[in-house]
Amino acid sequence: MDDSPLQVLTRPTAPYPDQRPGTSGLRKKVSVFQSKKDYLQNFVQSIYSSIDLLDRQGSTMVVGGDGRYFNQTAIEVIVQMAAANGVGRLVIGHHGIMSTPAVSCVIRKYKAIGGIVLTASHNPGGREGDFGIKFNTANGGAVTREEGTGGKGPAQDAVTNRIFQISRTIEEYAICPELRVDLATLSKQTFDLENKFKPFTVEIVDSVESYANMLRNIFDFAALKELLSGENHIKIQLDAMHGVMGPYVKRILCEELGSPANSAINCVPLQDFGGQHPDPNLTYAADLVETMRGGQYDFGAAFDGDGDRNMILGKHGFFVNPSDSVAVIAANVFSIPYFQHTGVRGYARSMPTSAALDNVARATKIELYETPTGWKFFGNLMDAGKLSLCGEESFGTGADHIREKDGLWAVLAWLSILATREQSVEDIIKDHWQTFGRNFFTKYDYEEVDLDAAIQMMEDLELMILEKAFMGQRFAVGEKLYQVEKADNFEYTDPVDGRICRNQGLRIIFTDGSRIIYRLSGTGSVGATVRVYIDSYEKDPDKIFRDPQVMLAPLVTIALKVSQLHERTGRSGPSVIT
Ligand code: G1P
Ligand code: ZN
Repeated sequence: MDDSPLQVLTRPTAPYPDQRPGTSGLRKKVSVFQSKKDYLQNFVQSIYSSIDLLDRQGSTMVVGGDGRYFNQTAIEVIVQMAAANGVGRLVIGHHGIMSTPAVSCVIRKYKAIGGIVLTASHNPGGREGDFGIKFNTANGGAVTREEGTGGKGPAQDAVTNRIFQISRTIEEYAICPELRVDLATLSKQTFDLENKFKPFTVEIVDSVESYANMLRNIFDFAALKELLSGENHIKIQLDAMHGVMGPYVKRILCEELGSPANSAINCVPLQDFGGQHPDPNLTYAADLVETMRGGQYDFGAAFDGDGDRNMILGKHGFFVNPSDSVAVIAANVFSIPYFQHTGVRGYARSMPTSAALDNVARATKIELYETPTGWKFFGNLMDAGKLSLCGEESFGTGADHIREKDGLWAVLAWLSILATREQSVEDIIKDHWQTFGRNFFTKYDYEEVDLDAAIQMMEDLELMILEKAFMGQRFAVGEKLYQVEKADNFEYTDPVDGRICRNQGLRIIFTDGSRIIYRLSGTGSVGATVRVYIDSYEKDPDKIFRDPQVMLAPLVTIALKVSQLHERTGRSGPSVIT
């Protein structure tokens, strides 16, 4: 074997104009990464260059992905470029695979300066599917502010902007093309590089173990073991949807907590997720819903491709709306030892998420923050010690143990509540509505619609809002009458650093507190995805058990009429209803 130091090369490249990261990093079709010369290299160099040289040199970074097609190829490039860019040590998941929550956990554990996550989350994978790459900072997530910079200034995601600016003018990238890393062996590998005093190290780690360790310190594993394998154990069904969660579910739920092997399904990670959308909702996890309807399982859950999202189901497929899920966890925080130790500092939800959590916050006198869509806003609050538990309507739930939403954490939180309350999922939810009232919630997603039509529709709606066309307007649908109290484009002032974030969704708010919200997705990769969210509070005990689609039908009618959504997009209905 040749022991001479590895060459460090600088290669010329030309910038691409379209590498602006969206809600969760840069997401494109796999074919874009494969066919456009140095497309990945440009973005990776932009990430490394965005980190101050002093911070980068000799630093530790974490790399992991959800195992989708192109994951491995991308990691090889990221490693070769890390070495050439002065990073001292990379901590990488076994086979290059790590769930998004595990990356967050490992960044914090190793005190890394950040990490690179390879995922397009719940978007389909495979050759024809999507690929994505995002950068997490030292806190284990994305942040919206730059360390050390103070209050004023326009709303911006400083790190993301820096990466984007560099990508627009990039002229060269650095790489060690001969460096070969073995991702298949748990090991520590060192490489000597020319012009470098210290060797570059790569550690291939068992991220499942690090992540399991963290959970052991959050939950009462003995109580969970009793629930899942004790004398009166319940039966569960967990669907990893062929994403990254398979190994985590198997190791933690089956091997450690004693749930039988057949309670975990689709646990082999596949590069194309078996050709499905790895998105845990009623549409894409329909098989699980069907199985649960059969009535032989008490609890069901599904995860998305990278393991940060979750869907919770009760016996007979009883659906737990994610907006309710976080509220129920909040109302039962005493079931989770972690919160007993840390106390609860605050709650938060994204603006489109129903206000169910607000009712718990009010009753327990705990601060509630309403943030724009996307987990990074929670990260700022958590870093400032203002937030303990949060959630989004888009099947994201989590806490301040890491800086990403955490699918398996949510499942263990729910199982902890079942263990403490000794009730079914359905009874827990129904009790909750009886105590706090119910926020009926629905979301209509229109995927892959014409981009121009979607933008035009949003602009016209915003114009009507600016002209106050809606103010005081009454809408009568059947016997229901709704009067507009306020309409705006949501803006958020970060309570930590004072930054203002504008254009976060159009809202029409009615005098009874009901809300209609319109947003364009920031994570899609084709055309536009229009999201319409509806939230309406009801405390009348005779009405709280009704079907949300029936209860919300008048507001849906108003939402479609006001926006002319169907006429504008040529659609006759949404692609997904939650
Ligand atoms: C979507 C969800 C949002 C979530 C994000 C990442 O973003 O709506 O709540 O944080 O995915 O999982 P969107 O496509 O709406 O921008
Ligand atoms: Zn995800």
